[in-house]
Amino acid sequence: MKPSRQSVQVWDPIVRITHWSVAALVLWDLYEDSGGPLHRNLGYAAACLVLVRVAWGMVGSGAGNIREWVPDRSGVVAYVKAAVSGHPPRHLGHNPLGALMMLVLWILILSLAATGWMSRLDMFWGEDWPKDIHGVLADVLLALVSVHVVTAILMSRLHKENLILSMVTGRKPAAPDQRKLSAGDGESTSPSGPPVVADSRAVSPGRRP
Ligand code: HEM
Ligand code: HEM
Repeated sequence: MKPSRQSVQVWDPIVRITHWSVAALVLWDLYEDSGGPLHRNLGYAAACLVLVRVAWGMVGSGAGNIREWVPDRSGVVAYVKAAVSGHPPRHLGHNPLGALMMLVLWILILSLAATGWMSRLDMFWGEDWPKDIHGVLADVLLALVSVHVVTAILMSRLHKENLILSMVTGRKPAAPDQRKLSAGDGESTSPSGPPVVADSRAVSPGRRP
């Protein structure tokens, strides 16, 4: 019998709970866009959860820690080149382009809370621009969330894994030669697919070598 592919814990419960709660709140606010009390309170709740996640990204360990995946220009450029050539490496944590998207989504949600709040201040009474900016930010967020979901599906197909289920269970299939990796090895190759970037800290969150 073919042995099942081993899996490793990647996303801790705080990452998963904040992700799905923020996603639900944002989707609701994009749908119920009256600006009424429910819309406002759920929007503030989404922004607070983003702040909780950012704080956790600074103090928590493992793949959820922002230091593990904060993108730099060379990493993003290298990843884009690999993606254009049709062979983007697999990452256990966020890939550099995905990481950039995560940061932009967080910034958009925080900016929506700020502009929503501003649009109701006496200071801006009679001014349309805070509301206009709020509407534009919401449109951009909707577009990027659509790209985010489509990309998650496409990357799942490319790397023959279910990234969406991984955001639910927290686990991802281990790289075939994961056990051979030691701290700092970083990259390895999979015999049947694109290279795998197996960040050792993403493999065993909380137990950093
Ligand atoms: C408004 C809706 C959404 C927002 C704002 C959003 C935002 C984010 C953010 C910020 C992350 C990074 C998670 C972290 O490190 O804490 C993330 C990851 C992820 N999201 Fe979403 N998300 C949304 C909806 C969805 C939906 C509907 C799906 C799937 C159907 C999805 C699938 C994923 C997956 C698979 C990852 C992990 C990607 C990876 O493995 O690198 N997201 N999302
Ligand atoms: C996840 C965060 C949020 C999202 C995705 C979101 C999205 C939207 C959208 C799509 C609209 C309709 C814009 C238009 O008609 O052009 C809207 C309107 C509005 N939002 Fe938000 N919003 C969020 C958070 C907030 C927050 C925290 C407040 C707090 C005050 C707020 C206050 C308002 C108000 C007052 C309006 C009505 C503006 C008008 O009268 O045209 N929103 N929002």
